[in-house]
Amino acid sequence: MRVFNFSPGPAALPLEVLEQVQGELLDWQHSGMSVMEVSHRGKAFEQVAAQAEADLRELLTIPANYKVLFLQGGASAQFSLVPMNLTAPGSLVDYVDTGHWSQKAIAEAVRYCNVHVAGDAGGNYTRVPPQSELKFSDGAAYAHYTPNETISGVEFGYIPQTGGAPLIADMSSSILSRPIDVARFGLIYAGAQKNIGPSGLAVVIVREDLMGRARPETPLVFNYQSVAENHSLLNTPPTFAWYMAGLMFKWLKRAGGLAVIGERNRIKAQTLYAAIDASQLYKNSIARDSRSCMNVTFNLKKPGLDAEFLTQAGQAGLQGLKGHRIAGGMRASIYNAIPLAAVEALIEFMRSFESRHA
Ligand SMILES: Cc1ncc(COP(=O)(O)O)c(C=O)c1O
Repeated sequence: MRVFNFSPGPAALPLEVLEQVQGELLDWQHSGMSVMEVSHRGKAFEQVAAQAEADLRELLTIPANYKVLFLQGGASAQFSLVPMNLTAPGSLVDYVDTGHWSQKAIAEAVRYCNVHVAGDAGGNYTRVPPQSELKFSDGAAYAHYTPNETISGVEFGYIPQTGGAPLIADMSSSILSRPIDVARFGLIYAGAQKNIGPSGLAVVIVREDLMGRARPETPLVFNYQSVAENHSLLNTPPTFAWYMAGLMFKWLKRAGGLAVIGERNRIKAQTLYAAIDASQLYKNSIARDSRSCMNVTFNLKKPGLDAEFLTQAGQAGLQGLKGHRIAGGMRASIYNAIPLAAVEALIEFMRSFESRHA
């Protein structure tokens, strides 16, 4: 029996996509093989790769002067690869610190660059800083931020204006959750295992004028220019993850694209936050204008009940609700594949749990 899976990543995938994969597994495109067993150099896989890129371009309306790269190493590799590919040693770069993942990105960047923290969320990271609090440097090679902090559940409701430096975004937990204006960014990267597909893949969308600056020591397979020139097929890619990402893009297109998905996500998040706000037992600590649409965090006002809450949620078919170990409490990750029915089932369980522990 399938459960409602609120895991933060690897995360739930749409049943429709999983069933398609299952149906195609043993004999993909009449090849007598699974997609995992065919050459990445063959025409059939090249077609998968090209179609996935075309569909992603269409979904995000990616302008022609941007390259789309499919890489390994997850989003964490990009924490190093962004400075390696975009800067010379000692360059000044700006980072906005809004929590765990921005700090991870900063910790890598300081190994390559002179990092200036252009703003932070202050205190315990329960809000994102408004534009007026951001202090970007003159002459920074780029400015980096994390539009959605997956662990605390804070999300920017706006795209920062940097005053000139190309804007770099770690969109791991928010990409494809709603339409975005790609032209506002110099580079966007995302690990796949939330809204793109299975883990093992990272997508980089990079403006062409930012390429060709890689430091000489950058590994060839991580050199954006070389990867782009080779259509991300410099070496053997994670073919299965790429194929599944392609199926996910098709699923999103069938669902009506990002405007439709974005509205669906907004309703899901609003419904869950409203239920939390209306309760006596649950509390969300994030400033209202900074609440994440993808990762809804909440605490039980009686923390002694955490374990019981999780056990009983599991028994009710609701999995993956335990908050990150550094944050504690609960977190419901409600990425694209989570239907409103899952959110409603969670709310019903939360209400019934509360009534039993009033
Ligand atoms: C915002 C954000 N950035 C980076 C990462 C790290 O991703 P990966 O495990 O693909 O390196 C995560 C993982 O959850 C994330 O949520």
